[in-house]
Amino acid sequence: MDRRITNLIITGFSGTGKSLVAMEVALRLNWDFIDTDDEIVKQTGKPIAEVFRHDGEDKFRELERETIRKACQQRQTVIAIGGGAIVDPQNYELLAKTGLIVCLEAKPETIYERLFREAASNPDREVRPLLAVDNPLERIRQLKASRQPHYAKADWTIHTDGLSVSEVAEEVIRASRLLRRTDSSQLSAFSDKDITCLVETTTQSYPVFVGYGLLDKLGEKTKKTASSGTATIISDDNVFSLYGSKVEGILKDAGFAVNSFVVPPGEETKNMGYAIKIYDFLVEHRTERGDIIIALGGGMVGDLAGFVAATFLRGMPWIQVPTSLVAMVDASIGGKVGVNHPEGKNLIGAFYQPNLVLADCQTLTTLPQRELTSGWAEVIKHGMILDEEFVQFLESNVNRLTKLEPELLARAIARSAAIKAQVVGQDEKEREGKRTILNYGHTIAHGLEAATRYKQFLHGEAVAIGMVGAAKLSQRLGLLSSAAVERQQALLQKFGLPTSLRAKRSNLKLSLAGVTGAMELDKKVKEKAIRWVLLQDIGKAVIRSDVPQQDVLAVLQELAEP
Ligand SMILES: NC(=O)c1ccc[n+]([C@@H]2O[C@H](COP(=O)([O-])OP(=O)(O)OC[C@H]3O[C@@H](n4cnc5c(N)ncnc54)[C@H](O)[C@@H]3O)[C@@H](O)[C@H]2O)c1
Ligand SMILES: [Zn+2]
Repeated sequence: MDRRITNLIITGFSGTGKSLVAMEVALRLNWDFIDTDDEIVKQTGKPIAEVFRHDGEDKFRELERETIRKACQQRQTVIAIGGGAIVDPQNYELLAKTGLIVCLEAKPETIYERLFREAASNPDREVRPLLAVDNPLERIRQLKASRQPHYAKADWTIHTDGLSVSEVAEEVIRASRLLRRTDSSQLSAFSDKDITCLVETTTQSYPVFVGYGLLDKLGEKTKKTASSGTATIISDDNVFSLYGSKVEGILKDAGFAVNSFVVPPGEETKNMGYAIKIYDFLVEHRTERGDIIIALGGGMVGDLAGFVAATFLRGMPWIQVPTSLVAMVDASIGGKVGVNHPEGKNLIGAFYQPNLVLADCQTLTTLPQRELTSGWAEVIKHGMILDEEFVQFLESNVNRLTKLEPELLARAIARSAAIKAQVVGQDEKEREGKRTILNYGHTIAHGLEAATRYKQFLHGEAVAIGMVGAAKLSQRLGLLSSAAVERQQALLQKFGLPTSLRAKRSNLKLSLAGVTGAMELDKKVKEKAIRWVLLQDIGKAVIRSDVPQQDVLAVLQELAEP
Protein backbone atom coordinates (compact mmCIF):
# COMPACT_ATOMS: atom_id res chain seq x y z
CA MET A 1 0.00 0.00 0.00
CA ASP A 2 1.10 3.50 -0.74
CA ARG A 3 1.99 5.24 2.47
CA ARG A 4 2.27 8.97 2.71
CA ILE A 5 4.10 10.27 5.75
CA THR A 6 2.26 13.50 5.87
CA ASN A 7 1.33 13.30 9.54
CA LEU A 8 2.68 11.92 12.78
CA ILE A 9 0.25 9.99 14.94
CA ILE A 10 0.85 9.53 18.63
CA THR A 11 -0.94 6.67 20.31
CA GLY A 12 -0.56 4.78 23.56
CA PHE A 13 -2.37 4.13 26.80
CA SER A 14 -3.71 6.93 29.00
CA GLY A 15 -0.99 8.47 31.08
CA THR A 16 1.78 7.91 28.57
CA GLY A 17 1.85 11.64 27.81
CA LYS A 18 0.46 11.52 24.27
CA SER A 19 -1.03 14.97 24.27
CA LEU A 20 1.89 16.86 25.77
CA VAL A 21 4.40 14.98 23.66
CA ALA A 22 2.40 15.54 20.46
CA MET A 23 2.17 19.24 21.27
CA GLU A 24 5.90 19.47 21.88
CA VAL A 25 6.70 17.58 18.64
CA ALA A 26 4.37 19.87 16.69
CA LEU A 27 6.06 22.90 18.20
CA ARG A 28 9.51 21.67 17.26
CA LEU A 29 8.59 20.69 13.71
CA ASN A 30 6.44 23.76 13.27
CA TRP A 31 3.53 21.49 12.40
CA ASP A 32 -0.11 21.66 13.41
CA PHE A 33 -1.41 19.76 16.40
CA ILE A 34 -4.69 17.95 16.99
CA ASP A 35 -5.80 15.99 20.04
CA THR A 36 -8.82 13.95 19.00
CA ASP A 37 -10.16 13.76 22.58
CA ASP A 38 -9.98 17.55 22.86
CA GLU A 39 -11.81 17.86 19.55
CA ILE A 40 -14.60 15.66 20.85
CA VAL A 41 -14.83 17.70 24.05
CA LYS A 42 -15.02 20.86 21.96
CA GLN A 43 -17.65 19.42 19.69
CA THR A 44 -19.92 17.96 22.37
CA GLY A 45 -19.25 20.52 25.06
CA LYS A 46 -18.81 17.68 27.57
CA PRO A 47 -15.84 15.94 29.16
CA ILE A 48 -15.03 12.56 27.62
CA ALA A 49 -16.17 10.70 30.75
CA GLU A 50 -19.55 12.33 30.48
CA VAL A 51 -19.89 11.43 26.79
CA PHE A 52 -19.18 7.83 27.83
CA ARG A 53 -21.67 7.96 30.67
CA HIS A 54 -24.52 9.74 28.95
CA ASP A 55 -24.18 8.75 25.31
CA GLY A 56 -22.46 5.42 25.68
CA GLU A 57 -19.18 4.07 24.34
CA ASP A 58 -20.62 3.39 20.87
CA LYS A 59 -21.51 7.04 20.43
CA PHE A 60 -18.07 8.06 21.64
CA ARG A 61 -16.36 5.70 19.18
CA GLU A 62 -18.48 7.08 16.38
CA LEU A 63 -17.45 10.65 17.24
CA GLU A 64 -13.86 9.50 17.51
CA ARG A 65 -13.92 7.85 14.07
CA GLU A 66 -15.29 10.99 12.50
CA THR A 67 -12.70 13.18 14.27
CA ILE A 68 -9.90 10.90 13.13
CA ARG A 69 -11.20 10.90 9.57
CA LYS A 70 -11.08 14.70 9.55
CA ALA A 71 -7.67 14.84 11.20
CA CYS A 72 -6.27 12.48 8.56
CA GLN A 73 -7.09 14.98 5.86
CA GLN A 74 -4.50 17.35 7.32
CA ARG A 75 -0.89 17.54 6.29
CA GLN A 76 2.06 18.14 8.56
CA THR A 77 -0.02 17.59 11.63
CA VAL A 78 0.84 15.77 14.82
CA ILE A 79 -2.27 13.90 15.87
CA ALA A 80 -2.69 12.59 19.42
CA ILE A 81 -5.41 9.95 19.46
CA GLY A 82 -7.33 8.46 22.35
CA GLY A 83 -5.88 5.31 23.92
CA GLY A 84 -8.54 3.03 22.44
CA ALA A 85 -8.83 4.56 19.00
CA ILE A 86 -6.31 2.32 17.32
CA VAL A 87 -8.28 -0.80 18.31
CA ASP A 88 -10.81 0.04 15.61
CA PRO A 89 -9.52 -1.47 12.34
CA GLN A 90 -11.06 1.31 10.27
CA ASN A 91 -9.20 3.95 12.30
CA TYR A 92 -5.97 2.01 12.12
CA GLU A 93 -6.10 1.62 8.36
CA LEU A 94 -6.76 5.29 7.81
CA LEU A 95 -4.09 6.41 10.25
CA ALA A 96 -1.49 4.05 8.83
CA LYS A 97 -2.17 5.41 5.37
CA THR A 98 -1.65 9.04 6.27
CA GLY A 99 1.10 9.00 8.77
CA LEU A 100 3.68 7.35 10.94
CA ILE A 101 2.21 5.84 14.07
CA VAL A 102 4.33 6.19 17.17
CA CYS A 103 3.19 4.40 20.31
CA LEU A 104 4.17 5.72 23.72
CA GLU A 105 4.65 2.95 26.24
CA ALA A 106 4.92 2.96 30.02
CA LYS A 107 4.74 0.39 32.76
CA PRO A 108 1.33 0.07 34.47
CA GLU A 109 2.94 1.40 37.67
CA THR A 110 4.21 4.49 35.88
CA ILE A 111 0.82 5.04 34.28
CA TYR A 112 -0.95 4.67 37.59
CA GLU A 113 1.41 7.09 39.25
CA ARG A 114 1.08 9.67 36.46
CA LEU A 115 -2.73 9.49 36.37
CA PHE A 116 -2.87 9.69 40.14
CA ARG A 117 -0.58 12.71 40.19
CA GLU A 118 -2.58 14.38 37.44
CA ALA A 119 -5.83 13.80 39.36
CA ALA A 120 -4.28 15.16 42.53
CA SER A 121 -3.08 18.34 40.85
CA ASN A 122 -6.46 18.90 39.16
CA PRO A 123 -8.92 18.27 41.97
CA ASP A 124 -11.66 20.08 40.03
CA ARG A 125 -11.37 17.76 37.09
CA GLU A 126 -13.49 14.70 36.96
CA VAL A 127 -11.68 11.56 38.10
CA ARG A 128 -10.56 9.47 35.14
CA PRO A 129 -12.83 6.42 34.77
CA LEU A 130 -9.70 4.29 34.99
CA LEU A 131 -9.04 5.47 38.51
CA ALA A 132 -12.64 5.22 39.59
CA VAL A 133 -12.51 1.50 40.24
CA ASP A 134 -11.55 -0.62 43.23
CA ASN A 135 -8.13 -1.68 42.04
CA PRO A 136 -6.99 0.87 39.45
CA LEU A 137 -3.56 -0.65 38.94
CA GLU A 138 -5.04 -4.03 38.12
CA ARG A 139 -7.59 -2.41 35.78
CA ILE A 140 -4.79 -0.58 33.97
CA ARG A 141 -2.87 -3.85 33.63
CA GLN A 142 -5.84 -5.68 32.15
CA LEU A 143 -6.96 -3.02 29.74
CA LYS A 144 -3.44 -2.35 28.61
CA ALA A 145 -2.83 -6.06 27.99
CA SER A 146 -5.98 -6.31 25.91
CA ARG A 147 -4.89 -3.40 23.74
CA GLN A 148 -1.29 -4.48 23.39
CA PRO A 149 -1.74 -6.34 20.06
CA HIS A 150 -3.10 -3.14 18.59
CA TYR A 151 -0.35 -0.94 20.01
CA ALA A 152 2.12 -3.42 18.55
CA LYS A 153 1.01 -2.40 15.06
CA ALA A 154 2.58 1.05 15.54
CA ASP A 155 5.60 1.84 13.39
CA TRP A 156 7.67 2.71 16.44
CA THR A 157 7.40 2.35 20.18
CA ILE A 158 8.99 4.58 22.76
CA HIS A 159 9.31 3.57 26.39
CA THR A 160 8.58 6.72 28.29
CA ASP A 161 9.27 5.58 31.86
CA GLY A 162 11.76 7.98 33.38
CA LEU A 163 11.79 10.33 30.37
CA SER A 164 10.62 13.93 30.35
CA VAL A 165 8.12 15.20 27.77
CA SER A 166 10.87 16.91 25.84
CA GLU A 167 13.02 13.77 25.84
CA VAL A 168 10.13 11.73 24.48
CA ALA A 169 9.42 14.40 21.85
CA GLU A 170 13.07 14.23 20.83
CA GLU A 171 12.73 10.45 20.43
CA VAL A 172 9.58 10.82 18.32
CA ILE A 173 11.38 13.18 15.95
CA ARG A 174 14.39 10.89 15.77
CA ALA A 175 12.14 7.93 15.02
CA SER A 176 10.30 9.80 12.31
CA ARG A 177 13.60 10.65 10.65
CA LEU A 178 14.83 7.08 10.82
CA LEU A 179 11.59 5.61 9.60
CA ARG A 180 11.28 8.09 6.82
CA ARG A 181 14.50 6.75 5.44
CA THR A 182 13.51 3.14 5.42
CA ASP A 183 9.78 3.20 5.15
CA SER A 184 8.85 6.48 3.64
CA SER A 185 5.72 6.39 1.63
CA GLN A 186 7.00 8.62 -1.11
CA LEU A 187 10.01 6.39 -1.33
CA SER A 188 8.91 2.86 -0.67
CA ALA A 189 6.81 2.97 -3.82
CA PHE A 190 9.92 3.55 -5.90
CA SER A 191 12.79 1.19 -6.37
CA ASP A 192 16.05 2.64 -5.13
CA LYS A 193 17.93 2.30 -8.36
CA ASP A 194 15.56 4.66 -10.12
CA ILE A 195 16.02 7.43 -7.60
CA THR A 196 18.70 9.97 -8.46
CA CYS A 197 18.73 11.52 -5.02
CA LEU A 198 16.52 12.12 -2.04
CA VAL A 199 15.52 15.37 -0.51
CA GLU A 200 15.26 14.59 3.17
CA THR A 201 13.84 17.31 5.33
CA THR A 202 12.49 17.13 8.85
CA THR A 203 9.00 17.13 7.46
CA GLN A 204 9.24 14.86 4.48
CA SER A 205 11.39 12.81 2.15
CA TYR A 206 10.89 12.69 -1.55
CA PRO A 207 12.71 11.37 -4.56
CA VAL A 208 14.30 13.30 -7.40
CA PHE A 209 14.52 11.52 -10.74
CA VAL A 210 16.88 12.81 -13.39
CA GLY A 211 17.27 11.24 -16.79
CA TYR A 212 17.21 11.75 -20.51
CA GLY A 213 13.78 10.97 -21.97
CA LEU A 214 12.30 10.46 -18.52
CA LEU A 215 9.04 12.23 -19.31
CA ASP A 216 7.68 8.91 -20.54
CA LYS A 217 7.85 7.66 -16.95
CA LEU A 218 5.81 10.52 -15.52
CA GLY A 219 2.54 8.56 -15.64
CA GLU A 220 3.82 5.58 -13.72
CA LYS A 221 5.62 7.73 -11.14
CA THR A 222 2.58 9.94 -10.61
CA LYS A 223 0.46 6.86 -10.06
CA LYS A 224 2.77 5.77 -7.28
CA THR A 225 2.32 8.95 -5.35
CA ALA A 226 -1.31 9.83 -6.11
CA SER A 227 -3.50 6.83 -6.57
CA SER A 228 -6.15 8.30 -8.79
CA GLY A 229 -8.23 11.34 -9.52
CA THR A 230 -7.45 14.43 -11.45
CA ALA A 231 -4.08 15.79 -12.42
CA THR A 232 -3.96 19.51 -13.09
CA ILE A 233 -1.04 20.57 -15.25
CA ILE A 234 0.15 24.12 -14.70
CA SER A 235 2.51 25.36 -17.38
CA ASP A 236 3.45 28.39 -19.46
CA ASP A 237 2.73 28.93 -23.16
CA ASN A 238 6.27 28.17 -24.32
CA VAL A 239 6.60 24.90 -22.48
CA PHE A 240 3.02 23.80 -22.93
CA SER A 241 3.14 24.26 -26.69
CA LEU A 242 6.17 21.96 -26.79
CA TYR A 243 5.30 19.32 -24.19
CA GLY A 244 1.71 19.91 -23.11
CA SER A 245 -0.07 17.38 -25.27
CA LYS A 246 2.60 14.77 -24.62
CA VAL A 247 2.32 15.16 -20.85
CA GLU A 248 -1.48 15.22 -21.00
CA GLY A 249 -1.40 11.96 -22.98
CA ILE A 250 1.03 10.30 -20.56
CA LEU A 251 -1.14 11.19 -17.57
CA LYS A 252 -4.35 10.11 -19.26
CA ASP A 253 -2.77 6.79 -20.18
CA ALA A 254 -1.93 6.35 -16.51
CA GLY A 255 -5.60 6.73 -15.67
CA PHE A 256 -5.81 10.36 -14.58
CA ALA A 257 -8.41 12.85 -15.64
CA VAL A 258 -6.33 15.81 -16.83
CA ASN A 259 -6.97 19.55 -16.76
CA SER A 260 -4.41 22.06 -17.92
CA PHE A 261 -3.99 25.70 -17.00
CA VAL A 262 -1.52 27.60 -19.14
CA VAL A 263 -0.12 31.00 -18.15
CA PRO A 264 1.92 33.50 -20.18
CA PRO A 265 5.68 32.93 -19.91
CA GLY A 266 7.89 35.33 -17.99
CA GLU A 267 8.57 36.51 -14.47
CA GLU A 268 5.68 39.03 -14.62
CA THR A 269 3.27 36.09 -14.47
CA LYS A 270 4.56 34.96 -11.08
CA ASN A 271 2.10 37.00 -9.07
CA MET A 272 -0.98 36.79 -6.88
CA GLY A 273 -3.25 37.64 -9.81
CA TYR A 274 -2.30 34.47 -11.63
CA ALA A 275 -2.41 32.42 -8.45
CA ILE A 276 -6.03 33.55 -8.05
CA LYS A 277 -6.81 32.67 -11.66
CA ILE A 278 -5.50 29.17 -10.98
CA TYR A 279 -7.54 28.91 -7.74
CA ASP A 280 -10.63 29.87 -9.75
CA PHE A 281 -9.82 27.19 -12.30
CA LEU A 282 -9.35 24.56 -9.60
CA VAL A 283 -12.61 25.52 -7.91
CA GLU A 284 -14.43 25.45 -11.21
CA HIS A 285 -13.12 21.96 -11.90
CA ARG A 286 -14.02 20.78 -8.40
CA THR A 287 -10.46 19.85 -7.59
CA GLU A 288 -10.16 17.86 -4.39
CA ARG A 289 -7.43 17.57 -1.84
CA GLY A 290 -6.34 14.14 -3.04
CA ASP A 291 -5.93 15.31 -6.63
CA ILE A 292 -2.51 16.27 -7.87
CA ILE A 293 -0.90 19.34 -9.37
CA ILE A 294 1.84 18.96 -11.97
CA ALA A 295 4.17 21.94 -12.39
CA LEU A 296 5.49 21.66 -15.95
CA GLY A 297 8.01 24.35 -16.80
CA GLY A 298 10.88 26.49 -15.58
CA GLY A 299 11.35 27.97 -12.14
CA MET A 300 8.66 30.56 -12.67
CA VAL A 301 6.00 27.89 -13.21
CA GLY A 302 7.41 25.76 -10.38
CA ASP A 303 7.26 28.62 -7.87
CA LEU A 304 3.75 29.67 -8.93
CA ALA A 305 2.25 26.18 -9.19
CA GLY A 306 3.94 25.16 -5.93
CA PHE A 307 2.48 28.20 -4.19
CA VAL A 308 -0.97 27.26 -5.42
CA ALA A 309 -0.40 23.65 -4.33
CA ALA A 310 0.69 24.83 -0.87
CA THR A 311 -2.34 27.00 -0.34
CA PHE A 312 -5.28 25.50 -2.24
CA LEU A 313 -7.35 23.40 0.18
CA ARG A 314 -4.55 24.01 2.69
CA GLY A 315 -2.15 21.97 0.63
CA MET A 316 -2.37 19.49 -2.22
CA PRO A 317 0.08 16.90 -3.46
CA TRP A 318 2.20 18.17 -6.32
CA ILE A 319 4.95 17.10 -8.67
CA GLN A 320 7.71 19.23 -10.10
CA VAL A 321 8.53 18.57 -13.73
CA PRO A 322 11.28 21.14 -14.31
CA THR A 323 12.10 21.93 -17.93
CA SER A 324 14.79 24.60 -17.60
CA LEU A 325 18.31 23.98 -16.32
CA VAL A 326 17.78 26.47 -13.47
CA ALA A 327 14.63 24.65 -12.44
CA MET A 328 16.24 21.19 -12.63
CA VAL A 329 19.25 21.94 -10.49
CA ASP A 330 17.90 24.69 -8.27
CA ALA A 331 14.30 25.88 -8.23
CA SER A 332 12.60 22.47 -8.18
CA ILE A 333 14.56 21.31 -5.16
CA GLY A 334 14.03 22.58 -1.66
CA GLY A 335 10.36 23.43 -1.49
CA LYS A 336 10.58 27.20 -1.66
CA VAL A 337 7.45 28.28 -3.46
CA GLY A 338 6.00 31.71 -3.92
CA VAL A 339 5.00 34.68 -5.98
CA ASN A 340 6.35 38.19 -6.42
CA HIS A 341 4.89 41.34 -4.89
CA PRO A 342 5.12 44.65 -6.75
CA GLU A 343 7.57 45.74 -4.01
CA GLY A 344 9.86 42.74 -4.22
CA LYS A 345 10.57 39.34 -5.68
CA ASN A 346 9.35 36.23 -3.87
CA LEU A 347 7.90 38.26 -1.00
CA ILE A 348 4.90 35.96 -0.66
CA GLY A 349 5.45 32.27 -0.28
CA ALA A 350 5.94 29.13 1.73
CA PHE A 351 8.12 26.11 2.22
CA TYR A 352 6.14 23.31 0.65
CA GLN A 353 7.88 20.22 -0.63
CA PRO A 354 6.64 18.39 -3.71
CA ASN A 355 5.89 14.66 -3.67
CA LEU A 356 8.55 14.07 -6.26
CA VAL A 357 10.68 15.83 -8.85
CA LEU A 358 11.07 14.42 -12.34
CA ALA A 359 13.63 16.13 -14.56
CA ASP A 360 13.84 15.04 -18.17
CA CYS A 361 17.09 16.52 -19.49
CA GLN A 362 15.90 16.01 -23.04
CA THR A 363 13.58 18.97 -22.60
CA LEU A 364 16.67 21.18 -22.43
CA THR A 365 17.15 20.68 -26.18
CA THR A 366 14.40 23.24 -26.75
CA LEU A 367 15.46 25.71 -24.05
CA PRO A 368 16.74 28.99 -25.56
CA GLN A 369 20.54 29.10 -25.54
CA ARG A 370 20.83 32.09 -23.26
CA GLU A 371 18.58 30.43 -20.63
CA LEU A 372 20.65 27.28 -20.85
CA THR A 373 23.94 29.11 -20.41
CA SER A 374 22.52 31.01 -17.47
CA GLY A 375 21.55 27.71 -15.83
CA TRP A 376 25.13 26.44 -15.94
CA ALA A 377 26.08 29.18 -13.47
CA GLU A 378 24.08 27.47 -10.70
CA VAL A 379 25.57 24.09 -11.65
CA ILE A 380 29.09 25.51 -11.41
CA LYS A 381 28.16 27.23 -8.15
CA HIS A 382 27.19 23.89 -6.59
CA GLY A 383 30.61 22.50 -7.46
CA MET A 384 32.45 25.58 -6.22
CA ILE A 385 30.84 25.55 -2.78
CA LEU A 386 30.96 21.85 -1.99
CA ASP A 387 32.51 19.52 -4.53
CA GLU A 388 35.90 19.96 -6.15
CA GLU A 389 35.61 16.62 -7.93
CA PHE A 390 32.44 17.80 -9.62
CA VAL A 391 34.27 20.94 -10.72
CA GLN A 392 36.89 18.70 -12.33
CA PHE A 393 34.13 16.73 -14.07
CA LEU A 394 32.65 19.95 -15.45
CA GLU A 395 36.09 21.16 -16.59
CA SER A 396 36.80 17.94 -18.45
CA ASN A 397 33.44 17.78 -20.17
CA VAL A 398 32.51 21.35 -21.08
CA ASN A 399 32.11 20.67 -24.78
CA ARG A 400 30.08 17.56 -24.43
CA LEU A 401 27.90 19.13 -21.74
CA THR A 402 27.18 22.29 -23.70
CA LYS A 403 26.25 20.07 -26.65
CA LEU A 404 23.76 18.35 -24.32
CA GLU A 405 25.21 14.88 -24.69
CA PRO A 406 22.53 12.78 -22.97
CA GLU A 407 24.47 10.62 -20.55
CA LEU A 408 26.88 13.30 -19.36
CA LEU A 409 24.17 15.91 -19.17
CA ALA A 410 22.08 13.68 -16.93
CA ARG A 411 25.11 13.03 -14.72
CA ALA A 412 25.89 16.72 -14.31
CA ILE A 413 22.31 17.61 -13.50
CA ALA A 414 21.94 14.69 -11.12
CA ARG A 415 25.05 15.68 -9.19
CA SER A 416 24.12 19.32 -9.06
CA ALA A 417 20.59 18.53 -7.88
CA ALA A 418 22.00 16.17 -5.26
CA ILE A 419 24.23 18.91 -3.85
CA LYS A 420 21.29 21.25 -3.55
CA ALA A 421 19.23 18.44 -1.96
CA GLN A 422 21.96 17.77 0.57
CA VAL A 423 22.15 21.39 1.67
CA VAL A 424 18.39 21.79 1.84
CA GLY A 425 18.11 18.61 3.91
CA GLN A 426 20.32 20.15 6.58
CA ASP A 427 18.35 23.36 6.80
CA GLU A 428 14.95 23.10 5.19
CA LYS A 429 13.58 26.43 6.29
CA GLU A 430 16.75 28.44 6.19
CA ARG A 431 16.83 28.77 9.95
CA GLU A 432 20.18 27.35 10.77
CA GLY A 433 22.20 29.28 8.24
CA LYS A 434 23.42 26.16 6.45
CA ARG A 435 21.40 27.00 3.38
CA THR A 436 23.31 30.27 3.20
CA ILE A 437 26.16 28.72 1.24
CA LEU A 438 23.82 28.37 -1.72
CA ASN A 439 24.02 32.16 -1.88
CA TYR A 440 27.57 32.01 -3.18
CA GLY A 441 27.85 34.69 -5.88
CA HIS A 442 24.38 35.94 -5.03
CA THR A 443 25.19 38.99 -2.90
CA ILE A 444 26.76 40.84 -5.80
CA ALA A 445 24.29 39.21 -8.22
CA HIS A 446 21.32 40.62 -6.33
CA GLY A 447 22.97 44.03 -6.30
CA LEU A 448 23.49 43.87 -10.07
CA GLU A 449 19.98 42.61 -10.74
CA ALA A 450 18.32 45.23 -8.54
CA ALA A 451 20.47 48.08 -9.90
CA THR A 452 19.41 47.12 -13.43
CA ARG A 453 15.79 46.48 -12.42
CA TYR A 454 16.08 42.86 -13.44
CA LYS A 455 16.21 43.86 -17.09
CA GLN A 456 19.82 43.43 -18.13
CA PHE A 457 20.99 40.15 -16.72
CA LEU A 458 19.51 36.74 -16.57
CA HIS A 459 19.89 35.54 -13.00
CA GLY A 460 22.66 33.06 -13.84
CA GLU A 461 24.64 35.72 -15.68
CA ALA A 462 24.54 37.96 -12.63
CA VAL A 463 25.49 34.98 -10.44
CA ALA A 464 28.49 34.21 -12.66
CA ILE A 465 29.78 37.75 -12.25
CA GLY A 466 28.94 37.58 -8.55
CA MET A 467 30.97 34.39 -8.17
CA VAL A 468 33.97 36.05 -9.78
CA GLY A 469 33.51 38.93 -7.32
CA ALA A 470 33.19 36.60 -4.33
CA ALA A 471 36.31 34.67 -5.38
CA LYS A 472 38.27 37.90 -5.76
CA LEU A 473 37.08 38.98 -2.30
CA SER A 474 38.16 35.62 -0.92
CA GLN A 475 41.58 36.22 -2.42
CA ARG A 476 41.79 39.70 -0.90
CA LEU A 477 41.04 38.26 2.51
CA GLY A 478 43.82 35.74 2.04
CA LEU A 479 41.50 32.75 1.83
CA LEU A 480 41.90 31.75 -1.81
CA SER A 481 44.81 31.54 -4.21
CA SER A 482 44.89 33.56 -7.42
CA ALA A 483 45.15 30.26 -9.32
CA ALA A 484 41.81 29.16 -7.91
CA VAL A 485 40.23 32.50 -8.81
CA GLU A 486 41.44 32.07 -12.38
CA ARG A 487 40.35 28.46 -12.49
CA GLN A 488 36.79 29.41 -11.63
CA GLN A 489 36.82 32.28 -14.12
CA ALA A 490 38.05 30.02 -16.90
CA LEU A 491 35.31 27.47 -16.24
CA LEU A 492 32.57 30.11 -16.27
CA GLN A 493 33.91 31.47 -19.55
CA LYS A 494 34.03 28.04 -21.14
CA PHE A 495 30.33 27.68 -20.43
CA GLY A 496 29.77 31.03 -22.13
CA LEU A 497 29.03 32.97 -18.96
CA PRO A 498 30.07 36.60 -18.38
CA THR A 499 32.79 37.16 -15.80
CA SER A 500 32.95 40.92 -15.69
CA LEU A 501 30.81 43.98 -16.25
CA ARG A 502 33.04 45.37 -18.96
CA ALA A 503 31.11 44.11 -21.98
CA LYS A 504 27.84 45.34 -20.58
CA ARG A 505 28.79 48.48 -18.85
CA SER A 506 28.46 51.15 -21.54
CA ASN A 507 24.95 50.24 -22.57
CA LEU A 508 24.01 49.37 -19.04
CA LYS A 509 24.47 52.74 -17.49
CA LEU A 510 25.28 50.71 -14.48
CA SER A 511 26.50 52.79 -11.62
CA LEU A 512 28.50 51.06 -8.96
CA ALA A 513 26.74 53.24 -6.42
CA GLY A 514 23.50 51.66 -7.59
CA VAL A 515 24.92 48.20 -7.03
CA THR A 516 26.32 48.93 -3.58
CA GLY A 517 23.10 50.75 -2.77
CA ALA A 518 21.13 47.63 -3.55
CA MET A 519 23.51 45.53 -1.49
CA GLU A 520 23.33 48.01 1.37
CA LEU A 521 19.59 47.59 1.34
CA ASP A 522 20.05 43.87 1.75
CA LYS A 523 22.14 44.64 4.79
CA LYS A 524 19.54 46.88 6.44
CA VAL A 525 16.91 44.23 6.12
CA LYS A 526 18.98 41.85 8.19
CA GLU A 527 20.12 44.60 10.57
CA LYS A 528 23.59 43.23 10.56
CA ALA A 529 26.64 42.92 8.37
CA ILE A 530 26.29 41.19 5.02
CA ARG A 531 27.02 37.48 5.35
CA TRP A 532 29.37 36.79 2.49
CA VAL A 533 29.78 33.32 1.12
CA LEU A 534 33.43 33.05 0.17
CA LEU A 535 35.74 30.26 -0.91
CA GLN A 536 38.56 28.78 1.07
CA ASP A 537 39.33 26.53 -1.81
CA ILE A 538 37.51 25.18 -4.84
CA GLY A 539 34.71 23.07 -3.37
CA LYS A 540 34.96 24.64 0.08
CA ALA A 541 32.74 27.57 0.97
CA VAL A 542 32.99 29.63 4.15
CA ILE A 543 30.73 32.33 5.52
CA ARG A 544 32.21 35.62 6.67
CA SER A 545 30.47 38.65 8.13
CA ASP A 546 33.61 40.73 8.58
CA VAL A 547 34.35 41.74 5.00
CA PRO A 548 35.62 45.35 4.90
CA GLN A 549 33.55 47.67 2.73
CA GLN A 550 36.62 48.97 0.91
CA ASP A 551 37.45 45.46 -0.31
CA VAL A 552 33.95 45.07 -1.68
CA LEU A 553 34.23 48.39 -3.48
CA ALA A 554 37.63 47.50 -4.88
CA VAL A 555 36.29 44.19 -6.20
CA LEU A 556 33.30 45.85 -7.83
CA GLN A 557 35.69 48.32 -9.43
CA GLU A 558 37.76 45.41 -10.74
CA LEU A 559 34.66 43.73 -12.17
CA ALA A 560 33.79 46.93 -14.00
CA GLU A 561 37.29 47.56 -15.33
CA PRO A 562 39.22 44.35 -15.28
N1 LIG B 1 12.23 28.05 -5.52
C1 LIG B 1 13.53 28.18 -5.58
O1 LIG B 1 14.27 27.70 -4.74
C2 LIG B 1 14.10 28.94 -6.74
C3 LIG B 1 15.46 28.88 -7.02
C4 LIG B 1 15.93 29.54 -8.14
C5 LIG B 1 15.07 30.25 -8.94
N2 LIG B 1 13.74 30.31 -8.63
C6 LIG B 1 12.80 31.04 -9.47
O2 LIG B 1 12.80 30.44 -10.75
C7 LIG B 1 12.53 31.43 -11.73
C8 LIG B 1 13.62 31.34 -12.75
O3 LIG B 1 13.59 30.06 -13.34
P1 LIG B 1 13.85 29.84 -14.89
O4 LIG B 1 15.16 30.39 -15.22
O5 LIG B 1 13.56 28.44 -15.21
O6 LIG B 1 12.78 30.83 -15.53
P2 LIG B 1 11.44 30.59 -16.35
O7 LIG B 1 10.57 29.60 -15.71
O8 LIG B 1 10.87 31.93 -16.57
O9 LIG B 1 11.97 29.97 -17.72
C9 LIG B 1 12.77 30.71 -18.58
C10 LIG B 1 12.21 30.71 -19.99
O10 LIG B 1 12.44 29.45 -20.59
C11 LIG B 1 11.23 28.91 -21.10
N3 LIG B 1 11.36 27.46 -21.00
C12 LIG B 1 11.46 26.72 -19.90
N4 LIG B 1 11.69 25.44 -20.21
C13 LIG B 1 11.75 25.37 -21.56
C14 LIG B 1 11.99 24.32 -22.48
N5 LIG B 1 12.27 23.09 -22.06
N6 LIG B 1 11.94 24.62 -23.78
C15 LIG B 1 11.69 25.88 -24.21
N7 LIG B 1 11.50 26.91 -23.39
C16 LIG B 1 11.52 26.65 -22.08
C17 LIG B 1 10.16 29.54 -20.26
O11 LIG B 1 8.93 29.56 -20.95
C18 LIG B 1 10.71 30.94 -20.06
O12 LIG B 1 10.43 31.74 -21.17
C19 LIG B 1 12.46 32.75 -11.01
O13 LIG B 1 11.12 33.06 -10.79
C20 LIG B 1 13.15 32.47 -9.70
O14 LIG B 1 12.71 33.30 -8.65
C21 LIG B 1 13.26 29.66 -7.56
ZN1 LIG C 1 20.36 31.61 -7.89
